[in-house]
Formats: sequence, C-alpha cells, structure tokens
Amino acid sequence: MKETIAILKSEHRSISAVLIALKHLAEMAQDRHVKPEWQVFHSMLRYIDEYPERLHHPKEDEFLFARVVARAPEAKKLVDALRAEHVQGAKLIRELERKLLFFEEGWPDGGAEFMGAVDAYADFHWKHMRKEETELLPLAEKHLSADDWRALDRAFKANEDPVAEIEERDFQKLFSRIANLAPAPIGLGDAWKRVSN
Ligand SMILES: [Fe+2]
Ligand SMILES: [Fe+2]
Repeated sequence: MKETIAILKSEHRSISAVLIALKHLAEMAQDRHVKPEWQVFHSMLRYIDEYPERLHHPKEDEFLFARVVARAPEAKKLVDALRAEHVQGAKLIRELERKLLFFEEGWPDGGAEFMGAVDAYADFHWKHMRKEETELLPLAEKHLSADDWRALDRAFKANEDPVAEIEERDFQKLFSRIANLAPAPIGLGDAWKRVSN
C-alpha cells in the first residue's frame, strides 16, 4: 500500500477508535444513577476536535485534494464536498461541546441531548472518512503519477516536520490519557460511582 494511503487510513482508525469509545461512554452515562467522570469526555472531545484540525485535514486539503483535482478535474465536486465537510465538522464539534457542558452542569439531566449530539457527530465523521476512502482514494490511485505520490509521501510523513512531530507525540499522549481515564470495560480507568439521587 502507498505510504500516504497507509498514513491516512491509520489516522482515520485513530479518530474512529476515539469515536467508538465516546459512543460507549455516552451510552454508559445514560444511567442517571452513575455519575460520569467528566474529564474523559473533555479529553475525547479535544482529541476529535484538534487531531483532525491540526494534523489530518491540513494534509488532505493542501496536498492530497489539491493534487487529485489538478490531475482529475472531474473530482472537483467530490473534493468541494469533502472540504465543506471539514468546515461543517468543526461546527458540529462546537454543538457537541455545548451539549456536554449542559449535561455536566445539569446532571443527571441533559444525557439524551448529549447522546444525540455524539451519534450525529460520529455518523457524520464516519460517512466523511468512508467517502474519502471509497471515493477519493480510488481516484487518486488512478490518476496520480509516481512523482505525485513521492511528494505526497513526503508531506504525509509528519516526522520530517519538527512542529508536526511534536504535535503527533502530544496526540499520542492524549490518546493514552483517554485510555487511562475511560472506565472499564472501555478503558483502564476506575469505574464511575453509583449514587442514589
Ligand atoms: Fe477529511
Ligand atoms: Fe480524512
């Protein structure tokens, strides 16, 4: 598999892992007698907001999308839609943060609204990643030249960019932190406390 494609798919898997865990925890938080530890939700939201925004989307927007459109102008409509989804995704995250805040301040009320926002965001982002993998990547594989792939591989290998490398390491740390904070059976953290309310 081409390095760019392998990196892009592995970044999708990292985002997806956090989305799956977020959905599970939001479901666990529907029990009004179990008080969530809020920090894990904040860390998860930070991850799904900043990781795509800082590391993933810039590489897609600036390098991959631009080259695909240059070589295959018929891909323009698809690429425009994907770019618009990057902007829309950032807005949906704000909505998710708002719902989390309401839930945290109004607990045990607000759980259903938070779950709704989590589902909406996860479905949206899965559809987006699927579209990139099943529609955009095949076009890239068909139309890009060996020189294009060499340039893309350079851009996608974050370790050649010292700033991106530091950020990548920060996100790996954040990912481990999420796993440590999330209660069993999702992560390694302590179980949430059962309260009588
Ligand atoms: Fe994307
Ligand atoms: Fe992507």
